[in-house]
This record gives sequence, structure tokens and C-alpha cells, in this order.
Amino acid sequence: MRKKITIIGAGNVGASTAQLVAKEGIADVMLFDIAEGIPQGKALDIAEACPLWGSAVSVKGTNNYADTKNSDIVVITAGFPRKPNMSRDDLLHANADVVKAASQAIAKNSPNAIIIVVTNPMDAMAQLAWKTTEFSCRRVMGMGGILDAARFRTFLAWELNVSPEDIEAMLLGGHGDQMVPLPRFTTVKGIPVGEILKKKTLGALIQRTRSGGAEIVGLLKSGSAYYAPAAATFQMIKSILLDEKRVLPCAAYLNGEYGVKDLYVGVPVVLGKEGVEKVVEIKLTRDEKTLFRASCTAVRKLVKKLAI
Ligand code: APR
Repeated sequence: MRKKITIIGAGNVGASTAQLVAKEGIADVMLFDIAEGIPQGKALDIAEACPLWGSAVSVKGTNNYADTKNSDIVVITAGFPRKPNMSRDDLLHANADVVKAASQAIAKNSPNAIIIVVTNPMDAMAQLAWKTTEFSCRRVMGMGGILDAARFRTFLAWELNVSPEDIEAMLLGGHGDQMVPLPRFTTVKGIPVGEILKKKTLGALIQRTRSGGAEIVGLLKSGSAYYAPAAATFQMIKSILLDEKRVLPCAAYLNGEYGVKDLYVGVPVVLGKEGVEKVVEIKLTRDEKTLFRASCTAVRKLVKKLAI
């Protein structure tokens, strides 16, 4: 039997993710939204593209959580996107209500699912989904680092005039303004970028990566990025569903790793059929540790505000 993926929130990120899953034909898709007609209409549109993609999966839309029953993976993208001059953190309380309701429905309908949280502020929302569902922390994670790394790779590729495919980037910390790009582990075919780029140039690219989401919000005026977030989410889905065991930066629950306890934050993990199969620990320099701790403190502040 084919695997089933439910995507909660049939907005820009949710529908784009559904499209990627359907196009690759790796699982049946159920799109859920509270808005009537939207998930059904978008699902029908995607289903009608499947013959053109040579894909035989089922794509359906619903407003009824019962239809999401027994999903293998559930992606939470429901909630509100940013507007200009808003940080991801400004979405905290409005999106917490949405993520909590979605998590309760997942626990009831798909008790064995793996959850990928995309809704911002993502790290705190992942912690909320984990607390609400009471699932094993291996089965609840957040999408952020892959997107931030992809942005960093894009800017580096433009600067160096090389293929982004040949650039590996590593980031740690929360999916927010205090994310921690790690130039020491960011390489062009194995060559650390610090050896190729001037400090000032690299600093500017890191800064552009940190505010990569805000740059798009500023251009779009209403709404936030969705093509790259969907592509990043799809990479996680694929690694789990096909048990690829990719090493990817994701928000994962830390229970002592990196000296952090009881917090979801971005770290490299091995993603496979069990979900987060391993947290990969990197030995950090003193400066990197300081930045990472500051990022963790910012995430913890949000979690505290949620009182979960
Ligand atoms: N249950 C289900 N769906 C909901 C709920 C809810 N309680 N509340 C809102 N939604 C739906 C909306 O109806 C809308 O279709 O969530 C969808 C959100 O879609 P968009 O507004 O297009 O937002 P999008 O760009 O997809 O971003 C969603 O992902 O990247 C993050 O910061 C972003 O938090 C935001 C989320």
C-alpha cells in the first residue's frame, strides 16, 4: 500500500509541498484546511496534473480531520505568514492556537505519524506539537535549517559563480534572525568558504542568509516565501519515506546534546524511516558556541511565553 501524507494548511507552502510530493509520486496526499473549498480545489488541480507528470498517486482535499486518518507523515503548514516588518516571532500566539489544534487532531487520527512542523516561529511550534501530541521526540521535527542552508548556498553560488550543487552549507540554531551559519563547515567541493572569500564578503552573505525570509516578505508585501520552503520540506519527506538517512539540519529535540536540554532547535540530524534517527554533534569553537547559545536563548524565550 502507498504511504499517506497529510498536509495541514493548503496555503502557499502546503499546496506547493503537495505538488512536489504528487509530482514525484512518492505518496498519496491529503490536503487539509479550515477554509472550505480551498484544499479540495487545489487538490483537484494537482490531481489533474498527475497524468502529465506520469504520477499515479491520489491527491485529495478535505475540511474533515477524519479523512487524514492513519497518515504516515503529517506536515503542519497551517497558520499565518509574516507581513512586512514582522518577525517570525510576532506570529507566536496566533499560530500556537492553530498548531495546537492541528497537533490534537494528529494525535487522535494518526497516532503513528511522523510530524514535520513548518509553521513559524517554527522551533517553538515544533516544541508545542511534540508536547501536545506526546509523541516520541524522534517523530516530531521542524523544517528550517535546510531552507536557511539552501539560501546560503544560493548566495554563495552567485558570488563564486559556481553551481550551488557543489556547495555544502551547515547551520545551527533557531530558524530566526539569530540562526548560526557555520562557514567552517560550509564548503565548495570540500574547500571551506573562508579560504576562498574575503571576510567582509562572507559576512555580507551570512547577513543576507539571516534575513533571507524577510527579504522575500519585503518583496511580496503580502505573504512569505513558499517555493524554497516547500522544496526543503519535500527533502525531509523524501529522506523519511525512502529511508535515505540524509544528514540534514532540522529542528530536533535536544536532551543534553550540544549542552542543551529540553529544547527544539536546529542541529544536523540523520533523517530516516524512524524520523530523527540521530542528532549529529559537531565540536564547536568558543565563538560558535556563544552564537549557538544566544540562538537557543531566543528560542527558549518563545517557548516560555507559550507556557507549555
Ligand atoms: N487549521 C487548518 N488550516 C488553517 C488553520 C487551522 N486552524 N488556520 C489557518 N489555516 C490555513 C489557512 O486557511 C491557509 O490556507 O493555513 C493556510 C496558510 O496558508 P498561507 O496563508 O498561504 O501561508 P503560507 O505561506 O503557506 O505559510 C504558512 O508556514 O512558512 C510558514 O511563516 C509561514 O507560518 C507560516 C506557514
